[in-house]
Amino acid sequence: MFASTKLIAAFSVVAAAAAAVLAAPAVFDPSGAKIDIVYRPHLTSPVEGDSWPIGSQQTVTWDASDIPPEALYQTGVLLLGHLVDGSSNEHLDIENPLASGFQIKNGAVNVTVPKVFPRSDYIVVLIGDSGNASGKFSITLV
Ligand SMILES: *[C@@H]1O[C@H](CO)[C@@H](O)[C@H](O)[C@H]1NC(C)=O
Ligand SMILES: *[C@@H]1O[C@H](CO)[C@@H](O)[C@H](O)[C@H]1NC(C)=O
Repeated sequence: MFASTKLIAAFSVVAAAAAAVLAAPAVFDPSGAKIDIVYRPHLTSPVEGDSWPIGSQQTVTWDASDIPPEALYQTGVLLLGHLVDGSSNEHLDIENPLASGFQIKNGAVNVTVPKVFPRSDYIVVLIGDSGNASGKFSITLV
């Protein structure tokens, strides 16, 4: 009995690890290189419910205080995406990054809001050697 419980526990760990690997999005930067998911900076702006007029300048910020030393000199790519029907599919626009080549350790980057279809379920995802999505926000007509 004990042995089989242990076996099931061990299987759960393996299954959870496999699920985590499957769930990890394959992230590619615009040059097509695959980016390893290691460090996920926590985005602090935009937050859920924010609204960005097209053409306006916005500052995207993240918590850079817990950057591991190996990520200190990494540059980032900021992607716009949107969520459909509450799904977790991020529909990232990898062709048109909002910003790229900025220092992750700066904790902020300015972007100009592109002329995209207005919707209320946009997200931004910051990719260094990792990705982390913001809360949902709106992009609106001016
Ligand atoms: C984003 O970062 C926060 C804080 O570090 C973390 O709790 C959250 O799970 C991360 N989200 C994703 C999608 O990685
Ligand atoms: C963003 O723009 C503001 C105003 O132009 C400027 O003060 C700030 O330093 C910029 N921030 C970054 C991260 O470039």
